[in-house]
Amino acid sequence: MKKIAVFTSGGDSPGMNACIRAVVRTSIFKGIEVYGISYGYDGMINGNIKRMQSHSVSNIIQRGGTILKSARSDEFRTFEGRKKAYDLLQKHGIEGIVAIGGDGTFTGAKVFFEEFGIPTIGCPGTIDNDIFGTDFTIGFDTAVNTALEAIDKIRDTAAAHDRIFFIEVMGRDSGYIALECGIGGGAEFVMIPETETDLKRVVKSLKNLRKTKTSSIIVVAEGDEEGGAEEIMQKVKEKVNDPEKEFKVTTLGHIQRGGNPTARDRVLASRCGMAAVEGLLEGKSNCMAGVVNGEVVYTPFEDCIGKPKQLKEDHLKLIEILSI
Ligand code: F6P
Repeated sequence: MKKIAVFTSGGDSPGMNACIRAVVRTSIFKGIEVYGISYGYDGMINGNIKRMQSHSVSNIIQRGGTILKSARSDEFRTFEGRKKAYDLLQKHGIEGIVAIGGDGTFTGAKVFFEEFGIPTIGCPGTIDNDIFGTDFTIGFDTAVNTALEAIDKIRDTAAAHDRIFFIEVMGRDSGYIALECGIGGGAEFVMIPETETDLKRVVKSLKNLRKTKTSSIIVVAEGDEEGGAEEIMQKVKEKVNDPEKEFKVTTLGHIQRGGNPTARDRVLASRCGMAAVEGLLEGKSNCMAGVVNGEVVYTPFEDCIGKPKQLKEDHLKLIEILSI
């Protein structure tokens, strides 16, 4: 293999730049030409591709976002779109691909590999941590710490005013961010898509609030079955029906996607990026390079996107027990 391409796709995540850097520098170290495709699959279709050198990735390990930009491509969902992408890669003589992204990225990569056979390895770049085949995804640790910093600040004002705060964090289909910063932020309740949300229990607890505590923090994943934080707050407020209690909502939103990656994310990104290039050179394909129990492992795309990543039962228990 003499020429590979790297791209980022889907929602960006802090650490994607560190991963690009690892892919580019490992390739050059191994004597391979490396190309960067901008704007994910859209860039592959539109010919947005350029040769990268070692200095192309200087001074980016600490930066959030992605120097290769990102996009969610509708055209790549069509066979015609994928054929255009294939023609473009052929024109440049690309023999291998590193795809940095989440489940949408890997779904596209799997279909593309099955149709056109260009060896592809993924790196798990998403703040959601919802990818099977890696203990953590690149960007998750940073997103959790960003959310936690905000939750700590909200807790100060919640306590000062005896208020009940519903804080919405990202996670359309996944409660990992909510659970992690719920534990770290000492939340009374965490509402996530993976588990049933028992509003009756929340209402009961808030009705009795002043017996033990005066304020409360409830972390809601945006994809919870009962709705977003605003909707859930309204439902709960109506049922608590106590004009003395003040309810507030804060939606953290895209702040969770930006910022300098933490050390953990930089190291994870560097390991996955290097492993992706090494995997391609060893003949691996149609799989993702992740880290499980501290070791690099390659998991077929099929499993990464098809198998649910189980939440840790003891994490759920922690919230219940420690919030009494
Ligand atoms: O997949 C990462 C993620 O940040 C989700 O947590 C969130 O639901 C989604 O992306 C938001 O996407 P967009 O930036 O396109 O609104």
